[in-house]
Amino acid sequence: MRVLVTGGAGYIGSHTLIELLGQAHEVCVLDNFHNSRPVVLDRVRSLTNGKVTSVTGDVRDRGALDALMDDFAPQAVIHFAGLKAVGESQRQPVDYYDVNVTGTLTLLRAMDRIGCRRIIFSSSATVYGEPVYLPYDEAHPTAPLSVYGRTKLMAEEVLTDWARATPEATAVLLRYFNPVGAHASARLGEDPADYPNNLMPFIAQVAVGKRDELQVFGDDYPTDDGTGERDYIHVVDLARAHVAAVDWAESNTGARAFNIGTGQPYSVYQMVEAFRRASGHPIPLRVAPRRDGDVARMQADSRRAEAEMGWRATHTLDDMAASTWAWQSGNPDGYGG
Ligand code: NAD
Ligand code: UFG
Repeated sequence: MRVLVTGGAGYIGSHTLIELLGQAHEVCVLDNFHNSRPVVLDRVRSLTNGKVTSVTGDVRDRGALDALMDDFAPQAVIHFAGLKAVGESQRQPVDYYDVNVTGTLTLLRAMDRIGCRRIIFSSSATVYGEPVYLPYDEAHPTAPLSVYGRTKLMAEEVLTDWARATPEATAVLLRYFNPVGAHASARLGEDPADYPNNLMPFIAQVAVGKRDELQVFGDDYPTDDGTGERDYIHVVDLARAHVAAVDWAESNTGARAFNIGTGQPYSVYQMVEAFRRASGHPIPLRVAPRRDGDVARMQADSRRAEAEMGWRATHTLDDMAASTWAWQSGNPDGYGG
């Protein structure tokens, strides 16, 4: 299928391009490189010998989208382009609603103009908010705790109404848990622009000597070792979920949400220990106060994705740590090196 990938130069998008090309899909990327670099696409090309066309542009730019739709005529769109930092979203809400919600609306209008009826959307487990029960299934109430989470939920609602009103339309809402890890080649990985917000890139920077110590945000949660537990998912498994979703969209209509996780949460200390094993380096740490807005535990029930899309995560915790370490140690300055 011809697949337009917005935000395809980003962390999850770049890994997804590899998996799509591996399944003989044709891809075209739209990215404004707000949080990525063009060299990422060169690396994808060199890893796949695949044809990756790309357009530098903003997902809110209707003119750029219309031109792209006319040239490439996608049969499906995977929509990664967006802003994703929870803390920043609290400080810059208008930017987040604009990129994440207006971006989605603009994209839908451009798709409608050419009759493109399939979209796969990057949503997040953050739409659930404080757990009422665990593991979260897709019927769990949605009550996001941040502006970021509300933009994701709002975009989901827009897509659901669009699919309801548009004959033959399919909107696949993938609710990712915590993506970590890197491509087996160690040529693609997560490259946070400045200070890493997330645990794994932070641990990796401590292991490689870029930062002195990890702050553990709270060791008094009601979990086995007192630190926060998350459902970490290897980015290659997550990328493969998008290929499964494209296939699913070919033979299904309507809007459908799918959790994309492993079902096996790990604590901060377990992640640190896995990283010590993988890297052979010490990870100095210090217990710090809890971080605002954090929940004790997140855990996915991903049985729907397995039953309906035939997708299941296969990578282990050690795969996540080893691939992150291979990427970080081989590219200490990320794509800037
Ligand atoms: P990323 O920042 O690495 O990738 C996003 C890409 O979109 C970047 O290449 C960026 O340059 C591009 N982009 C941003 N604004 C744009 C715009 N206005 N027009 C065109 N391109 C634009 O992030 P990621 O981790 O790969 O996440 C991809 C998607 O998945 C995001 O929508 C994010 O909200 C969602 N998501 C991520 C996580 C996570 O923890 N990484 C978890 C849940 C959901
Ligand atoms: N943590 C630390 N120290 C750090 C960073 C994180 O102890 O330096 C802890 C957190 O407190 C949490 C765990 O590690 O217990 C995971 O934190 P991350 O920041 O890696 O991930 P989050 O679960 O907080 O964030 C993820 C996504 C967001 C999404 C959010 C919703 O990255 O996009 O889930 O919960 F909004």
